[in-house]
Amino acid sequence: MLGDKKILYSGMQATGTLTLGNYLGALKNWVTLNEEYECIYGVMDLHSLTVRQVPAEFRKNARSLYALYVAAGLDPEKNCIYYQSHVSGHAELSWILGCFTYMGELNRMTQFKDKASKHADNVNAGLYTYPVLMAADILLYQADVVPVGVDQKQHLEITRDIAQRFNAVYGDVLTVPEAYIPKAGAKIMSLQDPQKKMSKSDENANATILLLDDRDSILRKFKRAVTDSGSEVRYAADKPGISNLMEIYGCVAGKDMAAVEQEFDGKGYGEFKTAVGEAVADHLKPLQARYQELMTDKAYLDAMIKQNDEKAQGYAVKTLRKVQKKVGLTERIR
Ligand code: TRP
Repeated sequence: MLGDKKILYSGMQATGTLTLGNYLGALKNWVTLNEEYECIYGVMDLHSLTVRQVPAEFRKNARSLYALYVAAGLDPEKNCIYYQSHVSGHAELSWILGCFTYMGELNRMTQFKDKASKHADNVNAGLYTYPVLMAADILLYQADVVPVGVDQKQHLEITRDIAQRFNAVYGDVLTVPEAYIPKAGAKIMSLQDPQKKMSKSDENANATILLLDDRDSILRKFKRAVTDSGSEVRYAADKPGISNLMEIYGCVAGKDMAAVEQEFDGKGYGEFKTAVGEAVADHLKPLQARYQELMTDKAYLDAMIKQNDEKAQGYAVKTLRKVQKKVGLTERIR
């Protein structure tokens, strides 16, 4: 708790650009959370180092993610948006927590197995201890709730286990976080294979809408989106392609599935796909304009980064000092 608000913590990796799935599934829904929670969002650049990065590109991507957070509507005066690597406590706490994590637990992480098979030439120790750093991110801020997608659930579970294990030895030191189940928020699937999640690393560019795609690309990709047999716009398990498009349309138009069905009653797939494309392009337009503005206004973004780095550091150092003291590390002499 900070004041009378619970603490909410989340973040995204600082690689590449975000997809429409990242936006509709997470970012868009984060915007109003600060009314209820003290919200802290990281640009998770340390985690990105588990995969080899081109330094200049990486630096730009991290700043781009920061700007996208803000452009999507996260007010950096009301949300603490900061760079993970600017608060050294993440790495320091991660080391200590690593000594409270068993190899058996890390061996069971499905994301590690996944990523290790994808990057077989670079199965580094960072990839293996990735969940420990993520636990440190969350526990450093004594977060009460963490909004995460299904793919990160196992990482939140291990975070809870580590916190409980630590507390069992040292008392009530770390807040054991809960998963935050959003009231709204969709799981957006690939436009080319609606059984697969929309992903920025998809080798088929038509499968993924990037937040910074221009209008023509957005329209074209939706036109090419795979649909199902039949011709009605109906939300149903046997219509995964159309249902995904309906989900997307519903999110940007603020309509439920029944209303979407009604709106497109008697209209064909072609007309529907054009409408979805236009709705998405219209919806993203102000976000993209704000993004461009932010990327050119160096002074503003720098000021926000500095202010929030300091704020994050203030939260983090409290937990870190407490943990260091509890485990018996010698206090600094002032
Ligand atoms: N692993 C998360 C992802 O890839 C990113 C992340 C790192 C994160 N640290 C976190 C998310 C802490 C929530 C809380 O999506």
